[in-house]
Amino acid sequence: MNAVKAENLTITYEGKPALEGVDFTLDEGETLLLLGPNGAGKTTLLKTIACFHGEYTGKLEVFGREPCEARDLIGYVPQSHSLNERVPLTALEVVAMGGIYRKGFFHFKIPGATIEKASEVLGFVGLDHVADRLFSELSGGQKQRVLLARALMSDPRLLLLDEPLSALDPSARGEVAGVLNKIKRERGITMIITTHDINPLLEIGDKVMLINRRLIAFGKPGEVLQDSVIKSVYGPLARVIPVEDRLFCITGDVHIHRHGGGGR
Ligand SMILES: Nc1ncnc2c1ncn2[C@@H]1O[C@H](COP(=O)(O)OP(=O)(O)OP(=O)(O)O)[C@@H](O)[C@H]1O
Ligand SMILES: [Mg+2]
Repeated sequence: MNAVKAENLTITYEGKPALEGVDFTLDEGETLLLLGPNGAGKTTLLKTIACFHGEYTGKLEVFGREPCEARDLIGYVPQSHSLNERVPLTALEVVAMGGIYRKGFFHFKIPGATIEKASEVLGFVGLDHVADRLFSELSGGQKQRVLLARALMSDPRLLLLDEPLSALDPSARGEVAGVLNKIKRERGITMIITTHDINPLLEIGDKVMLINRRLIAFGKPGEVLQDSVIKSVYGPLARVIPVEDRLFCITGDVHIHRHGGGGR
């Protein structure tokens, strides 16, 4: 079954297109890595699939339904989390919130079954040991894993993750990528993950989509990640380097001048 299907999808804000003429299908269980420079329309596409934004033309289906009719099947982890860190919630409470908001009302006391499930999910992302620590005091990688756990509380069939690796150091990126890999292997959840650094995720990507206000390329990683395709969006310094049986993708966002020592 198609988890997501878009046909000639154009998404607009007040009539102005942010993303035009996009076609793709994603099967249930597949992971899509969504790549594109700032302003390309990545968040816009995720928000539209999640029914947070409804101004579009063309066809968009989530498990064969209109996005807003598939809302209960979708988990969404936003680009930068909007938790008020001055509210002293523990990691476990933050996860448990994912099982409460979904029901559309506010509990003053979190039900025991929700806490039990939150503990199980926190264990799944490898964070049992921080359950009672304040969310605000966790490391960036741990916070991101707590937010993944929170999104898992509603048993989504489709998880939309907006830059889950941004603002993390390479070792935390690896940790979060490991959890995403586990979600794919053990839960079989369909995922769309936007990222500026595709390398830690290449292992779990079944499909890669490159957008820049329109669809540039969509297909298997080896098909999309070609020098000419990457250069067409990121400029002449971008490249794809094969190393043994892996690909490394340099999109030119960091470089050091070989002569003169300056970096930017
Ligand atoms: N609420 C909004 N109202 C009007 N225009 C918007 C709105 N949100 C986004 N846009 C515009 O839509 C375009 C795509 O933005 P979007 O946030 O989807 O890009 P992105 O690929 O997620 O970028 P980034 O990598 O910076 O997160 C941009 O031109 C942006 O200014
Ligand atoms: Mg974005």
